[in-house]
Amino acid sequence: MGSQGRVAVVTGGARGIGRAICLALARQGADVAIADLNLPAADELAAEIEALGRRALALRVDVSRRDEVREMVGRIVAAWGRLDILVNNAAICPMAPFDQITDEQWARTLAINLQGPFICSQEAVKVMKPQGWGRIIAISSVAGKMGSVRSGADYSASKGGVIALTMCIARTYARSGITANVVAPGTVHTDLNRNWPQEALDDLEQRTPLGYLAEPEDIAAAVAFLASDEARYITGEVLDVNGGFLMD
Ligand SMILES: NC(=O)c1ccc[n+]([C@@H]2O[C@H](COP(=O)([O-])OP(=O)(O)OC[C@H]3O[C@@H](n4cnc5c(N)ncnc54)[C@H](O)[C@@H]3O)[C@@H](O)[C@H]2O)c1
Repeated sequence: MGSQGRVAVVTGGARGIGRAICLALARQGADVAIADLNLPAADELAAEIEALGRRALALRVDVSRRDEVREMVGRIVAAWGRLDILVNNAAICPMAPFDQITDEQWARTLAINLQGPFICSQEAVKVMKPQGWGRIIAISSVAGKMGSVRSGADYSASKGGVIALTMCIARTYARSGITANVVAPGTVHTDLNRNWPQEALDDLEQRTPLGYLAEPEDIAAAVAFLASDEARYITGEVLDVNGGFLMD
């Protein structure tokens, strides 16, 4: 499976699932830009990727800011001349119960989790379309397909929205050599849920047919496949990586 000579950008790439995606793409031959609010962590990962023999760029970017995303794409193209793979991974996961979600929180979650992928995709296809080749992969969630009471309704709505957004991109650019797909994880061991009560994690584990929660590398493997040259005939797909938690 390969991404030899491809140029990738992973938003929220500095830690958790994004970090594992950066490493998986680098291992299959891509040069990787790590776009994150957390520049020191992105810098550390860049050094790790370079040690694998690939090129890496650490970029401080807020995905909800059009100007910053435009600059991100500009810096990648200036450095490496192209952009082949965009992974829309950056997100926040507030936990307020439905009746306590403020308008401000709703707007912030949607700005990062849904408008962010919209802005990043729009800026990326400006480069991918003339190249005649591109891969856009969004990280949704099981919450975006079946709702959730633990993570907030704002989070679930943003994750459902990113599925529809990615399908629109898949349909729009199918004849331009660009595929767009979604990976929808169940619960994954990361900092995002480190502070969840242990009973909640135990309950999720028990309701997962495989009997354990995912590691970031389980999600990264699915993303790396969809980004590879071999996945050329898959577009508009939602790939569940949830241990059987939801079978549909
Ligand atoms: N962890 C899970 O159980 C789980 C389950 C389903 C889906 N997901 C999804 O997987 C993705 C990664 O989750 P994770 O668990 O690794 O999260 P995480 O919180 O560990 O990492 C998220 C990263 O995104 C960055 N980020 C946050 N806001 C940003 C912004 N505005 N601009 C740029 N970067 C920003 C953070 O700095 C951080 O490095 C998210 O889309 C999340 O919704 C996670």
